[in-house]
Amino acid sequence: MSQATPSRSTWSNRWAFILVTIGSAVGLGNIWRFSYLAGASEGSVGVFVVVYLVCVALIGLPLLMAEILIGRRGRGNPVAAMLNTAAESGNSSWWALLGWVGIFGALMILSFYSVVSGWMVDYFWRSLVEGMNVSTPEEAKAAYDATMANPWRQGFWHTVFMILTVGVVARGVVAGIETANKIMLPLLFLILIFLAFWGTVAGDMPAALNFMFNLKTEAIKPGVVIDGMGHAFFSLSLGMGAIMAYGSYLDKKTNIGHTCLWVAGVGAFIGLLCGAAIFSLTFRYGLEPAAGPGLILQTLPLAFTHMPGGRLVAILFFLFVIFAAWTSSISLLEPFVSWLTERYGIRRARAAWGTALPVWLLGLAVCLSFNEWSEFKIFGRTIFYLLDHFATRFMMPLSGLAIAIYVGWRLGKMIVVDEIRLKQRTFNLWFDVLRFVVPVGITLIFFYELVLRNWLK
Ligand code: PFF
Repeated sequence: MSQATPSRSTWSNRWAFILVTIGSAVGLGNIWRFSYLAGASEGSVGVFVVVYLVCVALIGLPLLMAEILIGRRGRGNPVAAMLNTAAESGNSSWWALLGWVGIFGALMILSFYSVVSGWMVDYFWRSLVEGMNVSTPEEAKAAYDATMANPWRQGFWHTVFMILTVGVVARGVVAGIETANKIMLPLLFLILIFLAFWGTVAGDMPAALNFMFNLKTEAIKPGVVIDGMGHAFFSLSLGMGAIMAYGSYLDKKTNIGHTCLWVAGVGAFIGLLCGAAIFSLTFRYGLEPAAGPGLILQTLPLAFTHMPGGRLVAILFFLFVIFAAWTSSISLLEPFVSWLTERYGIRRARAAWGTALPVWLLGLAVCLSFNEWSEFKIFGRTIFYLLDHFATRFMMPLSGLAIAIYVGWRLGKMIVVDEIRLKQRTFNLWFDVLRFVVPVGITLIFFYELVLRNWLK
């Protein structure tokens, strides 16, 4: 059964599409997740970085193309796109499950993504009105702990961030999402260049680069290789319907292969530049490349307090993080909203606010999971970790695997060739990688994340 989608928006041009897709890809993942994983892979950070880059090329890029292909061919929200392409290629409508996993998975990610983004808005606000003013590691930790212990504060900033996200999606694909990206991404890029420059002048860039690219082969641990792969996945927004939804607004003329090269290349470049700027400041002030949100919210404020012009740099840095998170969060809300509007004819603004309400409530539970409800655990995890782990370790790889199998083995070469217009040799290379390398790679991540890592803990 195919779902008709009568009048659909299309991005203004190819560059608009590249921009929004980069906007979705570059986010908290590149900033706190990358620095946390890199910092945590002690001794073999270079290996992690290289594996990440290789995986962006070998898993991320082919899958990015496959997701866009389904979206564009199916011309609908992720569920409709799967139904339409399955019908066209004579496959079972059960494949639409993949669309469902995507649209719900994206909302799950959004619930905690918005809370973490809320911390960033909070820190931005503090830098703006009073400055960070933390002169010792103890003070920085106390400020961070106080933020985590306060559900009201977190809930407030999470609410602000959700409103920002809905505000954009409610305005529509071109007037909302495209315009927001067109304004924010160039600014984000400018700030990043400034931060990288400042990281070089005021920080210790050689130490940062040495830290990130020091390939100590004797130190390779299996976990580092798999983490690099998993991060390529997360940082390219794969498997969650976001890219598929964006692809569905892409015109027929645009060359998917070239477009994806831009997205993957710029995405990885921004990730690396951002990591270099963060580590450069971290090392200059003799701080530890500590784990998780701690690096951004404890270590950096300390560096900002001590460096010349630190307050301005702090304001710009948190603004940069907010822009990056915002352009990603709208891509997490869009898949479900487009499904509601297309399936039930609900007005976009109403669909956006209606979808946001349960996500916002779930986000409040996430805020509580850092304090009042920190003892409440399901499968030994707090609500925050449960959502994060379930979405990123379970749903994302499984859905990516299914997309590779669907496009590589089920869709039929005619449709694929028709959508991916590349020179034959390049096409064959891409298709073989999608059919063989991607499924094997993802199976490895999946097996490791779900089975091995749990056993090894
Ligand atoms: N790629 C985003 C980041 O790195 O922060 C996160 C993300 C966005 C994941 C959209 C999945 C998604 F569908």
